[in-house]
Amino acid sequence: MPTTQPVVLITGASRGIGEAIAHALATIGGYTLALSARSTEALNTLKQTLQAEHPSLTVEVFPCDVALPQSPQALIEAVFKGLGRVDVLINNAGVGGKVGLITEMPDAHLHAMVDLNLKAPMLLSKYALQAMLNQPKLAGRGMGTIININSIAGKTAFPFWAVYDATKAGLKAFADALSEEQRTNGVRVIGIYPGACDTAIWETLDLAADDTPDKTGFLRPAQVAEAVVFALTQPAGTLVSDITLMPTAPAV
Ligand SMILES: NC(=O)c1ccc[n+]([C@@H]2O[C@H](COP(=O)([O-])OP(=O)(O)OC[C@H]3O[C@@H](n4cnc5c(N)ncnc54)[C@H](OP(=O)(O)O)[C@@H]3O)[C@@H](O)[C@H]2O)c1
Repeated sequence: MPTTQPVVLITGASRGIGEAIAHALATIGGYTLALSARSTEALNTLKQTLQAEHPSLTVEVFPCDVALPQSPQALIEAVFKGLGRVDVLINNAGVGGKVGLITEMPDAHLHAMVDLNLKAPMLLSKYALQAMLNQPKLAGRGMGTIININSIAGKTAFPFWAVYDATKAGLKAFADALSEEQRTNGVRVIGIYPGACDTAIWETLDLAADDTPDKTGFLRPAQVAEAVVFALTQPAGTLVSDITLMPTAPAV
């Protein structure tokens, strides 16, 4: 059903940082949420939880594997068709994949990381921007916002994480250029650069047993979500371009 509220599309919304962002935006209110990830079941569970906690919230799910070449365009079109607009794109879906020397990394892992962490947010940005720039402007709002959940790895190269580092540094370069290109259009492009955060991503990494991190000092997903809310809710004329968010405790 079309909405007059800003529509926020969150990728990777089914758990971790994406799920925390969905909770944070539902709590402050005033946004319609479009939740995406591959797992329909997890998205529907989150939708039910959010609606139970926030009865006036409009939230829809858009299951999608954004790493597939045609998916980003299809996802933006589905959100536009279902909710009538796309005002905020939060590129959050990402994978840590295999950690180790490039000489030992299967090519498939390299391709999977580049497809999800770099190509998908670039294509989603392209198609979201086309929607943002051509839809009627909402009163008192800017033309749109793109928020990339990047990583401290986008700014600092960590040994054994070369491919992950490259995807995140590539995303930073893309977003920095896009931000300058879109200033005159009133579209804000924001980078969030968290350090280690306590999510299931660490269970998907191919770490040696003695490298398994102690997550005690890690950031919590809600802390990253708070940074997203801060950046997003600035007045339309204010661009918080970059937030680097590290745990105060030594993490990894
Ligand atoms: N956790 C950290 O320490 C940390 C630190 C800095 C930056 N980050 C970044 O934060 C972002 C979120 O990470 P997280 O820690 O919250 O990870 P997570 O808990 O593993 O969640 C990843 C999310 O992405 C979705 N996803 C995975 N592959 C997908 C695909 N092909 N298409 C669509 N959705 C997909 C997952 O849902 P489905 O499996 O259902 O698709 C899930 O919702 C990532 O970009 C990551 O690089 C994380």
